[in-house]
Amino acid sequence: MNTLVIGSQWGDEGKGKVIDFLTETADCVVRGQGGSNAGHTVIANGEKYVLHLIPSGILWSGKLNVIGNGVVINPGYLVEEITMLRNRGISITPENLVISDRAHVTLPIHREIDAAQEEALGDQKIGTTKQGIGPTYADKARRLGIRMADFVDRDRLLKVLQDRVKTANAELIRLGWAAVDPKETIDTVMEAADVLRPHITNTIPLVNNAIKAGKDLLFEGAQGAMLDIDFGTYPFVTSSNTSAGGCCTGSGVAPTRIDKIIGVCKAYTTRVGAGPFATEDDEISDYLHGLGREFGATTGRARRCGWADGVVLRYSSMFNGFDEMAMTNVDGLDEMKTIKICTGYELNGEIIIYPPALIEEWDQCVPIYEEIEGWQADTTSCTTWAEIPEKCKAYIKRFGEIIDCPVGSIGVGPDREQTIFVER
Ligand code: GDP
Ligand code: IMO
Ligand code: MG
Repeated sequence: MNTLVIGSQWGDEGKGKVIDFLTETADCVVRGQGGSNAGHTVIANGEKYVLHLIPSGILWSGKLNVIGNGVVINPGYLVEEITMLRNRGISITPENLVISDRAHVTLPIHREIDAAQEEALGDQKIGTTKQGIGPTYADKARRLGIRMADFVDRDRLLKVLQDRVKTANAELIRLGWAAVDPKETIDTVMEAADVLRPHITNTIPLVNNAIKAGKDLLFEGAQGAMLDIDFGTYPFVTSSNTSAGGCCTGSGVAPTRIDKIIGVCKAYTTRVGAGPFATEDDEISDYLHGLGREFGATTGRARRCGWADGVVLRYSSMFNGFDEMAMTNVDGLDEMKTIKICTGYELNGEIIIYPPALIEEWDQCVPIYEEIEGWQADTTSCTTWAEIPEKCKAYIKRFGEIIDCPVGSIGVGPDREQTIFVER
């Protein structure tokens, strides 16, 4: 059984937790896109881990974790993440962590270009994670990127780096930004390359042969559907295809090999960074921040919060082909008296049920809400569907109807164990 797990909103839906939970019965976890802009939280055995580049299956022993061809890798950060995990007693070897030789490399210089571009945008800035993601994917599309395959031969890597740092520095100077020290940049990457080299391989036959051998694979999406460069709130998006299709491309696995696609959503909505967010709401935002919730795993920024958005979720269920939703953070609504869910937007006097393309139109969309009575009871100690309050069950059922996709499981807390399957 091969399962894709994709963020259905603007990221941070709880993909790390869902992947970790599903890894118990899987053989292999594959990341297909994004880079260190991702921050996937896993709480296992009372310990919190935030993973940026390494698949969230790494905490289970005996599983193969693959960083696929569609991922962009900052080598220094990947080495830091490996070291952090090793220091916490997690074994990382070329047997349980492999890196695609086709994956592109984020250089320290890409981070500088990201920051320079953001600054140049002034009020219009995207609010990127400043991890150099956009500039790395831009290099990939411009066909001048460096790939992990370039790491295999040391002399070749040195030459490739010298050339690229020279041209990238010229770009930085054009942006009015200071050039980076070539030696420092090159040394950092060369050092990281020595650690990563044993893990680099052609992951495409590896993953496909595992499928052929009847293994169970999990594909871990990063970011969320509305940050997808094609389907999201462009230009307030990331620079990869975060959707199910992007996950296939980024893993080297054909869509015909996928058996199930799970969308991860929160019981409400959050977003970090700038861009449209029709159901953003001060009441729920203040409430969640007051509980100490919804601060970013990668940047620590307070996430913008709002009600569940049926327009966004209906749309993302459609283009991702979700079989079911894994709804997390249901416990975040435990104390709410009334819960709102958006069923459509009013735009220029008309009701629309799918999002518009233009940012100007997004900004004019007025959400139409349905109000649902809150359950006002603690769900965090529930361990079975039978224990879930009836009003909470009613919210989950109605949610599934509005977004045209059933909810298959819910999260009632951040721990591995706080996952409950929905019974119908
Ligand atoms: P990801 O990027 O999709 O993996 O999500 P993040 O890790 O960035 O953010 C999700 C946050 O919600 C993390 O702090 C998780 O520990 C937390 N979380 C996930 N599921 C639940 C849940 O059901 N309840 C609660 N209270 N927290 C959850
Ligand atoms: P996970 O995998 C939430 C957002 C940034 C910004 C936009 C572009 O943890 O869900 P980028 O650095 O990618 O160029 O920034 O995308 N963003 C995320 N928001 N979760 C993420 O990842 C994100 N990755 C990028 O905040 O708005
Ligand atoms: Mg995250």
